[in-house]
Amino acid sequence: MTSHEVTLEWTDGRTRTLDVAERQSVLEAAQRVGARLPYDCRSGTCITCVGRLLGLEDGESDDEDASRPDVGDAFAYRRQPRALTDDERDDGYVLLCIASPQADCRIEVGPRVRAEVGDSPWA
Ligand code: FES
Repeated sequence: MTSHEVTLEWTDGRTRTLDVAERQSVLEAAQRVGARLPYDCRSGTCITCVGRLLGLEDGESDDEDASRPDVGDAFAYRRQPRALTDDERDDGYVLLCIASPQADCRIEVGPRVRAEVGDSPWA
């Protein structure tokens, strides 16, 4: 079965790399190994689990000036991520409860990411 390595990065410097199976969400993989991520609805409507794509681990430049990787290339959603606007998705925000990685990648997680996005219209 295909899987991808996803590295979670907290703003305090902690990191945790997960092996995420093809049909597994990042949240499910984190819970499987005891990595604590916030969640509530688990269905893409509340925004509690939001993270932000930092980069794809494909050998491309990690330069801060490089354009942000296309989040559409990095994740497949098992259902519509209703809590995010199109602009938020374009900016790299991703709902980890319903997103399965399509490539090895790094994701910023934690309260700062949650504070950057607005409240869910469905919460
Ligand atoms: S836990 Fe609610 S959107 Fe992910």
